[in-house]
Amino acid sequence: MRDVTNSYPGSRPLTTLDPSRYISHEFAEKEKRLLWPRTWQIACREEEIPEIGDFLTYEIADESIIVARAKSGNIIAYHNVCPHRGRRLVAGCGKASVLRCGYHGWLFDLDGKNLRVQDREDWEGGLDEEPLDLHRVRLETWGGFVWIDFRDEGESLADYLEGVTDALGPFEFEKMRYRWYVTLHLECNWKVGVEAFIEGYHVAATHPQLLHIFGDDYTNSYARGRHSVFTYERGLSPLATPSPRLNRPPPEDARPAVMEFFQIYEDTLKALFSERDYQASRELMNVLPNAVDAMTAFGTAVELGRRAAEAEGVGYPEGATYEHMAKAGADWHIFPNFVTLPWFDGALCYRGRPDGDNPDRCIFDIWSLVRYAPGKEPPLQRRVILDPSRESFSGIIDQDVSNMAQVQRGMKSSVFTKCRPNPVQEVPVINFHRNLDAYVGK
Ligand code: FES
Ligand SMILES: [Fe+2]
Repeated sequence: MRDVTNSYPGSRPLTTLDPSRYISHEFAEKEKRLLWPRTWQIACREEEIPEIGDFLTYEIADESIIVARAKSGNIIAYHNVCPHRGRRLVAGCGKASVLRCGYHGWLFDLDGKNLRVQDREDWEGGLDEEPLDLHRVRLETWGGFVWIDFRDEGESLADYLEGVTDALGPFEFEKMRYRWYVTLHLECNWKVGVEAFIEGYHVAATHPQLLHIFGDDYTNSYARGRHSVFTYERGLSPLATPSPRLNRPPPEDARPAVMEFFQIYEDTLKALFSERDYQASRELMNVLPNAVDAMTAFGTAVELGRRAAEAEGVGYPEGATYEHMAKAGADWHIFPNFVTLPWFDGALCYRGRPDGDNPDRCIFDIWSLVRYAPGKEPPLQRRVILDPSRESFSGIIDQDVSNMAQVQRGMKSSVFTKCRPNPVQEVPVINFHRNLDAYVGK
């Protein structure tokens, strides 16, 4: 990336990004060597492996990691490769008491310890000094997420997440569970996927159907160390009223507008706001007069949702107030590949990963997390969409996805020599690449 001092007096410096960062094999190779092995990253959530023996695999570039609930009840991780001749031991997820390599039958316990080598006597002691256990990966948990780092030592997760935990901790991610989980196989670089969700600049053009209830969609955005955030702080119009871009007056009756706001999210996303919020908004016509403003109507719906959550035994995050939310920001990019939009009652999360060595493809997970009363969470089902151009997922996310392959193709044009991210609203994109440079070099 380059920072260019613009010659126009008073202008903001122009930061440009070379498209090769997204489309070249060389850059993907550098990320494989210098980024992925040297950063904390989310492998899964704790609730995906609730019982002893549960395991899943997490793939990143050429690596495959097994994350398992060991006999002790602790979650541990190790590389998914047999020390005999390199077969991957397991695929997908499942439950097991031991891991047995399908090739020659070497056996490992859930801690990754080698239990048996078939015909070991053939080596006549030659294996006795060899490290035959599965190669452990450093692991910590925060917010109900399981984080791994391939480095055996180095900064702790708490140090890595500096600034993030203060902002996001009060939302109590550890009390949320999956409402839905979808994995999209996309025809774009993993960074193109991630960057579609770390700025709010695209909303007016990509999601025009939201503008009449979105309120002020203009964003500010900030670097927070290696992570970033964007916020809605201009606030010219509240949620559930038209964006100032539309030049339309607010609705005469704010109550149906707030209802429509939650209904659109419920019908087209089922994320960010919960079904409880939506049901609560349907009571507004009964509990409020028609003269209330949008802010009051919106706040009342949220308050009714909170009461419903408490009545259902779901609870509500005490520390996550409106004031905290305004301070924390609306959308966090946690370097390198995780994005979350927190709300009181749930969160929307995104995780992008390269698909093997191919810079033109990525694996993109999207998670809707919601608070549930204990035992009331729906069974986890992971939906996989191999070709999002043929299979729709959600109106809003389909729109985001529709940009991605077009961006990837467009960046290969012979006349496209640099990306020019917005210096106010796309700071997370700029900060992303600045930090990426710190890992992979310029
Ligand atoms: S490769 Fe695993 S036992 Fe041979
Ligand atoms: Fe979007």
